[in-house]
Amino acid sequence: MIHGKYKETHPMAELISDQPGLLQLMARFGLPLGVGDKTVAQVCEEQGVDAFTFVTVANFIKQNARELPEELEQLSVNCLTDYLRRAHNYFLDFQLPAIRRKLLEALDCSRPDDVSYHILRYYDDYMEEVRKHMQHENKRVFAYVARLLQGEVSEDYSIERYARVHGSIDTKLQELKNIIIRYYAPSGRTELLHSVLFDIFTCENDLRLHCLVEDSIFVPAVRILEARVRVDGAQPAAAAVSAATPDSNLSEREREVLHCVVCGMSNKEIAGKLFISLNTVLTHRKNIARKLGIHSVAGLTIYAVANHLVDIEQIKK
Ligand SMILES: [Fe+2]
Ligand SMILES: [Fe+2]
Repeated sequence: MIHGKYKETHPMAELISDQPGLLQLMARFGLPLGVGDKTVAQVCEEQGVDAFTFVTVANFIKQNARELPEELEQLSVNCLTDYLRRAHNYFLDFQLPAIRRKLLEALDCSRPDDVSYHILRYYDDYMEEVRKHMQHENKRVFAYVARLLQGEVSEDYSIERYARVHGSIDTKLQELKNIIIRYYAPSGRTELLHSVLFDIFTCENDLRLHCLVEDSIFVPAVRILEARVRVDGAQPAAAAVSAATPDSNLSEREREVLHCVVCGMSNKEIAGKLFISLNTVLTHRKNIARKLGIHSVAGLTIYAVANHLVDIEQIKK
């Protein structure tokens, strides 16, 4: 058993024994089994996978998404996108169809007026919804990120646009599970029905974590990438257009606090300058981090420079 967070120096085999769910994580990062005594760093390096990104996602899952990851500016967005794309393939091509096959076997769907028939229709509608959600991410969002990785800033899209509308996709599955548990009286195929319910529980949790990885790791990492590309001056016109969007959620006071933070001021200095209490400064900082999904001063600095909230000369070296 591994106490505390996973590290790149831990043997990969120990991570899997600690949490078998990491087998899926390995597959989605394109990491094979047969790891012997190799460390996480060695296994990742052999496959050209960024070990820091793998460990960050592994820890997020280990903590059941309770703790937001730090040092997001070090993540490999390329690696994260590959991971999410493989997860989509897994859900759409394997997990969801497998549950459907089991449902079909466990429920008696021969009569259209029977509740079983409606349960299956509900599930089919749900599968279609998930397919649309993931295909949109594959075609629109990941394609945008791929262009960003080439140093191209799009004028008609930003990760904020995705973040604003991105919702969870596990709710209907949760509802379906509750309908079956509460209102479906099986006629003899109990073991099979229990087995499919267990699969639905697992899939629901897997989808929940998948969406949380997108919201809490992928989106903030892409935000930092966007800011970097703009700082590099790839496309000044695009930068000007996009500058108004990301910080539009910050209040006037939060922008003032952000300005002070990236200028290298301590919380006490900020409180003195803005005539507010230390606790208020801390609350503003927490809200800024939550709204932007950026927790480090380095990340906030990139964000502030990219969005013209501070002059480069004002930032302490
Ligand atoms: Fe997704
Ligand atoms: Fe999603």
